[in-house]
Formats: sequence, C-alpha cells, structure tokens
Amino acid sequence: MRLAPSILSADFSKLATELEEVESFGADWFHVDVMDGHFVPNMTIGPVVVNSLRSRTRAVLDCHLMVKDPVKMIPWFVNAGADVITLHLEALDNPQAALESIRKFGKKAGLSIKPSTPVENLEPFLGFLDLVLIMSVEPGFGGQGFMPESLAKVKWLVQQKRATAASWIIQIDGGINPTTAMAARAAGVENFVAGSAIFSASDRKKAWKDLMEAIR
Ligand code: DX5
Ligand code: ZN
Repeated sequence: MRLAPSILSADFSKLATELEEVESFGADWFHVDVMDGHFVPNMTIGPVVVNSLRSRTRAVLDCHLMVKDPVKMIPWFVNAGADVITLHLEALDNPQAALESIRKFGKKAGLSIKPSTPVENLEPFLGFLDLVLIMSVEPGFGGQGFMPESLAKVKWLVQQKRATAASWIIQIDGGINPTTAMAARAAGVENFVAGSAIFSASDRKKAWKDLMEAIR
C-alpha cells in the first residue's frame, strides 16, 4: 500500500520545501497533475517543473497527464525525469501504442479513466500497462468530494487482475481522506493519491499518519 501525495494542493511558490516536508513523513511517491486547459478546465504545470523537482528528490515522480494531446508529450516528461506516466484513455486514438511508447523509454505506463468512462473499456489494454488510475472525482481540481461509484470499478479491476495474475497497480485519485481511503482499501486499491487531505491539513503530519493508518 502506498500513499502518493498530489502536489496540486501544495504551495507552488515553494514546491521543494513542500516535498521535503512530506518526504520527512515517509513519502516516496509524488503524484504530479499536468493539466492543459483543454482536456480539463484548468492549467497546472509542465515538464520544466518536473525537471526541477527531479533534481530535488529521489522519490517516484508519477505524472498524471490530463491533456488533450498526451502522445506528443511523452518524450517531454521522460526527459524531465518522470518515473511513471499516466495517460487518459479518453484522450488516446491508439492506447496500446501510447503505452508501448512509454515503456520503450524504460518508464512505467499508466492508463486512467474519468468517472463517466466504463471500466470495461480498459480491458483491451491491461496487458500493456503498469498502473491503472481510477478517477474518483471529475479531473481538473483538488478538494472535490469522493465518488463512491468508483469503487465498483476498482472491484472489477481486482477481478481482472486475479484472473490474469497481472502485476499492474490499482491507483485511485480524488477525494481521498481517511474515510474514503478505508473504503477504497477494502475494494482493492493499492496506491492512494491524496492532495488536499495532506497539503491543506492544519496538521500535515497528523493527516499523513491518519491516512497511513487507513490504508494499512
Ligand atoms: C484532480 C487531480 C488529483 C487531485 C486530487 O484532477 O487528478 O490528483 O490533486 O486532489 P484531492 O486529493 O484534493 O481530491
Ligand atoms: Zn491526479
């Protein structure tokens, strides 16, 4: 079980210190939300920031690309030092080729679906990926409420994973707090992205501890 802080809710004017603080709690996997203002109605950061973060941390940099044209950006994030690159199924014409291209660069390939996309749509691509990301909020913003419908998708993935003895990781993103994390854990999630529950907490260390307790 892994807790992956989403830096979207961190203070962007002092990202390195924000990372260091949660690393001191034990964080070794950062979720980096990349938004282009087209695929989602918000804009965030790009490869230059990932490149800067790369020089400040050894933790996994997991880039969640919420962009309209992710394929052209794969090499950008590879060169910036990303370890995991997750693309949205909804943005891809040829998901298999996109995943294979990430893997050819020696990086882990992830595939994500929005809340309105049926989980079964992932089925043809499960043999070509390292991580599946189930969005439990509409992508675009931190601090939204968890959508419990996402848990049925997680359960379907758990069945697929068992049936095929696969090794990809099931990740969830959006509205994760100790209560929803516990429910997601019970459904079979292995990697929990949490933004506001960590970075907007008045006591971040306690928030980290409470989340870790919930997913243990
Ligand atoms: C939303 C992003 C999430 C976001 C989660 O589009 O993909 O990673 O940071 O934020 P919380 O944990 O606050 O819901
Ligand atoms: Zn995300």
